[in-house]
Amino acid sequence: MKRVKIKELLATPPTGQVVKIQGWVRTFRNNQFIALNDGSTIQNMQAVVALASIDDATLKRITTGACLSIQGELIASLGKGQSVEVKVTELEILGDCDAEKFPLQPKKHSLEFLREIAHLRSRTNTISAVMRVRHAMAFAIHRFFNERGFYYIHTPIITGSDAEGAGDMFRVTTLDGKNPPLDENGHINHKEDFFGRETNLTVSGQLEGETYALALSEIYTFGPTFRAENSNTARHLAEFWMIEPEMAFYDIHDNMQLATDLLQYLVRYALDNCSDDLEFLNKRAQEEEATKPQEQRSELSLLERLKFVVENDFQKLSYTEAIEILKNSTPNKKKKFQYVVEEWGVDLQSEHERYLVEKHFKKPVILYNYPKNIKAFYMRQNEDDKTVAAMDVLFPGIGEIIGGSQREERHDRLLKRIQEMNLPEKELWWYLELRKFGSAPHSGFGLGFERLILFVTGMTNIRDVIPFPRFPKSAEF
Ligand code: 4AD
Ligand code: MG
Repeated sequence: MKRVKIKELLATPPTGQVVKIQGWVRTFRNNQFIALNDGSTIQNMQAVVALASIDDATLKRITTGACLSIQGELIASLGKGQSVEVKVTELEILGDCDAEKFPLQPKKHSLEFLREIAHLRSRTNTISAVMRVRHAMAFAIHRFFNERGFYYIHTPIITGSDAEGAGDMFRVTTLDGKNPPLDENGHINHKEDFFGRETNLTVSGQLEGETYALALSEIYTFGPTFRAENSNTARHLAEFWMIEPEMAFYDIHDNMQLATDLLQYLVRYALDNCSDDLEFLNKRAQEEEATKPQEQRSELSLLERLKFVVENDFQKLSYTEAIEILKNSTPNKKKKFQYVVEEWGVDLQSEHERYLVEKHFKKPVILYNYPKNIKAFYMRQNEDDKTVAAMDVLFPGIGEIIGGSQREERHDRLLKRIQEMNLPEKELWWYLELRKFGSAPHSGFGLGFERLILFVTGMTNIRDVIPFPRFPKSAEF
């Protein structure tokens, strides 16, 4: 007999038909009521064992965490909490679970504890809800771009240069670390390495993405990126996924519009397609909020925040305007910021970004035209000679969710900037050639996938929205 997923059965009219379900026991009450979950939905299916219909030895093996295969009649439920239930006729234990040793008891566990058992936390309501939403967002990202005629380009994971300068990189080598070959100067001889040169894991697919935007017009990448920065924060991972659209013929304003459309589309998709999981996560977030002191609680619930983003325009303002607001802000005057904002040109810290988003505007903010000295070499230089056409999208509770820019398409300007910043001009030969052969104005941005998932699920630590987080001193599993 073919197994039916619980999600499907919950939407099926119960007529006493015989069905088969398989899944893991969440709870077993009164030697009679099994709450079975197969991960297809946050909801459990109640399976009811008639008294004395199953032998005692088997009954004892129905424990939290055990894996069961059940056949029975699908009937309208008499109890409250579910509309249908399965009246068990056959029950098979597929996998026992020693209740004494199983770390997941039917009670609330801390997220910190669950991170230590990442191989089992997938069986919890919270993590499975997050991962279903994560799936839905990945799917919606492809759908959004496909609907708009963007092509999905797979940029390489192993790359030869750190042209981006986005952060420290993980080296890729097959040389013997204990006894590497040396050159005549006593340095490691990378000519003998696998690729005949130094290589590392990519920090961004952008530069390669640009080569395809200048051929297919509108492309995007969606893949893993790696940064060996030692940031032990709730917003940083060493391995994270990034979505990087790159568009020929877009200026910075077109770029900001696309970023807005994408974020609103994704949040709307989640509201329309993940309502069960979002309702659960909304309640979870509310319970967590209730444990915080009043002044730290957010004014809106998760669902209210999501609706707010879909229904309201984002606030656009230049870096220069933001600096004025920050300089005159109460926390700045009272020196409440850890980094007091004194002059134009400083990089914004997350405390400043959060002030703008959460206190001043109370909505998502897009900052643009940043000082060139705090931004990457490839950003298009503005006429004022001080700023570049960069943009960051800042979200409540998250801070920076997107970073992007219009790209410098003028060969002479780009080359000058590369030289000013002491970047390896030789390694960037191919990137520079794009500006020699049929250059075009173009723009793009990077959306941090896990930061998006943080926002949509209301989770507060980025380590809980990726199945197996990678961060300093942690790569088990
Ligand atoms: O601002 P970033 O560094 O921009 C780039 O890499 C550009 N090449 C993107 C582009 O224009 N195509 O990173 C983009 C986004 C950030 O806004 C943030 O959401 C996320 O990637 N991000 C991280 N997410 C998790 N952990 C980290 N360590 C992250 N670093 C950046
Ligand atoms: Mg950035």
